[in-house]
Amino acid sequence: MSPLLEVSDLVKTYPVKRNLLGRVRERTTVTDHVSFTVERGETVGIVGESGAGKSTVGRLALRLIEPDSGSIVFDGRDVRGLSRAELREFRQRAQMIFQDPFSSLDPHMTIREAVGEPLTIHRGLKGIERDAAVTALLARVGLRADQLDKYPREFSGGQLQRIAIARALTTEPDFIVCDEPVAALDVSIQAQVLNLLIDLQRERGLAYVFVSHDLSLVRFLAHRVAVMRKGVIVEMGPTEQVFTDPQHAYTKTLLEAIPDPRAHFLGRRAEADAGRAASAMVGTGKES
Ligand SMILES: Nc1ncnc2c1ncn2[C@@H]1O[C@H](COP(=O)(O)OP(=O)(O)OP(=O)(O)O)[C@@H](O)[C@H]1O
Ligand SMILES: [Mg+2]
Repeated sequence: MSPLLEVSDLVKTYPVKRNLLGRVRERTTVTDHVSFTVERGETVGIVGESGAGKSTVGRLALRLIEPDSGSIVFDGRDVRGLSRAELREFRQRAQMIFQDPFSSLDPHMTIREAVGEPLTIHRGLKGIERDAAVTALLARVGLRADQLDKYPREFSGGQLQRIAIARALTTEPDFIVCDEPVAALDVSIQAQVLNLLIDLQRERGLAYVFVSHDLSLVRFLAHRVAVMRKGVIVEMGPTEQVFTDPQHAYTKTLLEAIPDPRAHFLGRRAEADAGRAASAMVGTGKES
């Protein structure tokens, strides 16, 4: 089977200098022939220093911004050639979660409305049916029914990120770009949200691109990891291989810079999978 997502040779440049008439004199290259695949149900981590082009890659993959050149193939179809209707369907199947969930929620909408709205728009759900779907989705991400008529400002950062995840799930996506989704949260809350992402992945066969400057989080979550530097993927491979046997000098530098304790606290993706499989077998797989 072909990969769920295959991006090839993505180039994105931005104008940096213009002449007096506003004509572009010089451009800066933000992604330079970036290529990678994402399999169904897989998490691909993207790490690298600030300004490396990680978020740009995520946005390009979802066609939220246009590349100068290169191709993006999702489930066998070139995303750049989609009609409006097809693009709409693509937007449902491929979602994004941001670092700041508050900014992606309308402050004047209750959580019930915020999660209900896309259920009406994309799935035509109304009334009791819609309400049941809202309650079920919010329960799944860990919110109680008596919290549904509150506004975003009444929730903590972790709860808001759970709400943003529920909102992303309304369209039943098979792919989500998570751009630093826990960077703004307390460490203890980070692990809960990451575990939720892993559980949802197992339940729904979701694929993630997980963008983070935090290598221990990526080690915990990603099956494969791409290391970016100045718009280029300098190294990509299975997470444990890249972490234990880095090939590129830049990867080695990044790894040496990890302040470690959290790596132990979170563990590794392989352990997370093994642990969850075991607890599912004895029927205690539920988390709070
Ligand atoms: N709209 C834009 N116009 C001009 N330059 C841009 C634009 N968007 C991004 N850039 C530049 O592209 C480069 C890559 O940005 P990007 O946000 O992808 O980096 P990043 O790896 O996500 O960084 P961070 O870890 O800080 O989030 C940066 O140098 C940034 O200044
Ligand atoms: Mg970024």
